[in-house]
Amino acid sequence: MPNNNPLQPKKAVIKKVFKVTPTEKMFVISFVDPKDQEEFERNYTRPARFVQVNLPGIGEVPISLCSPPTQKGFFALTIRRVGRVTTVIHNLNEGDYVWIRGPYGNGFPIDEWKGRDLLFLSAGLGMAPLRSVFLYALDNRWDYGNITLINSARTKRDLLYYEELEAIARTYKGDGVKVIQTVTREEVEGVCKGRCHLYIPQANVDPKNSVVIMCGPPRMYQSIFDEVIARGFDPDYIYATFERRMRCGIGKCGHCNVGSSDSMLYVCKDGPVFSYRQVQRYPELME
Ligand SMILES: Cc1cc2nc3c(=O)[nH]c(=O)nc-3n(C[C@H](O)[C@H](O)[C@H](O)COP(=O)(O)OP(=O)(O)OC[C@H]3O[C@@H](n4cnc5c(N)ncnc54)[C@H](O)[C@@H]3O)c2cc1C
Ligand code: FES
Repeated sequence: MPNNNPLQPKKAVIKKVFKVTPTEKMFVISFVDPKDQEEFERNYTRPARFVQVNLPGIGEVPISLCSPPTQKGFFALTIRRVGRVTTVIHNLNEGDYVWIRGPYGNGFPIDEWKGRDLLFLSAGLGMAPLRSVFLYALDNRWDYGNITLINSARTKRDLLYYEELEAIARTYKGDGVKVIQTVTREEVEGVCKGRCHLYIPQANVDPKNSVVIMCGPPRMYQSIFDEVIARGFDPDYIYATFERRMRCGIGKCGHCNVGSSDSMLYVCKDGPVFSYRQVQRYPELME
């Protein structure tokens, strides 16, 4: 009998594990049952949705998809080792099993942005979900105008996907794609110095016809909102992701909601991607 319980995790196998930084690893995973993989791909159409990674008897954690929906047969997660569950995941190897629920959340509405320039602003682990959006845009290059990605972290070795992004910048040189990588805590060759918003003036995008896509700690968002609006970017095309502690991931348990009973948002279901307009209406997203 088919199991239609939306909370039932499906068995998946780790195909590859890569060390991305000293604290983050990328896990390339596929479902053991091809039907589960097909169902996942049918539901993963917008980049930067998330899954719940479940380890029986240990716990469950929400993790963003860092691979785009255009990649088939597998999906990828970049996981920072911070505590109990993520430490156990970091000790897993190729061939080990994990249990997956999802994809959940809304993802970025990138198909609504056709014809626009794209400005990506990332800090730290924020580059994980943005990678899926950036790669999706490159896979559909003809749908978008110029693209600038500004990736920031504390030090060069903390920059997620540094080599991959440099290779992309070389491949797309002269084709309207620009990558700027910057670090805040050291002066080092091959990268810029300072926070990501300092490099917005170097972006090759037209503010009036751009979408701003950002992910990082919410404390950085207000100054970036102020900056991009002052520079003439359209407030209707500014998006950011927000995290909350989650349990069910599907809008049932109320663990992640913001707002009041007459106007409530579930970060797991209505987010984690929210527009600037929504953030103005629900300022507690920034807390
Ligand atoms: C929608 C969403 C997407 C996410 N995407 C990613 C991702 O792509 N990669 C990734 O590495 N992590 C991601 N996270 C964060 C990840 O879920 C937490 O790091 C994880 O739940 C920690 O579990 P743990 O058992 O290892 O840590 P715990 O033992 O539970 O906690 C260890 C430390 O981490 C802090 N912590 C725990 N959960 C969170 C959280 N949700 N946000 C901030 N701090 C937390 C705790 O306060 C504590 O200080 C995401 C979270 C959400 C809600
Ligand atoms: S995590 Fe349960 S409602 Fe959002």
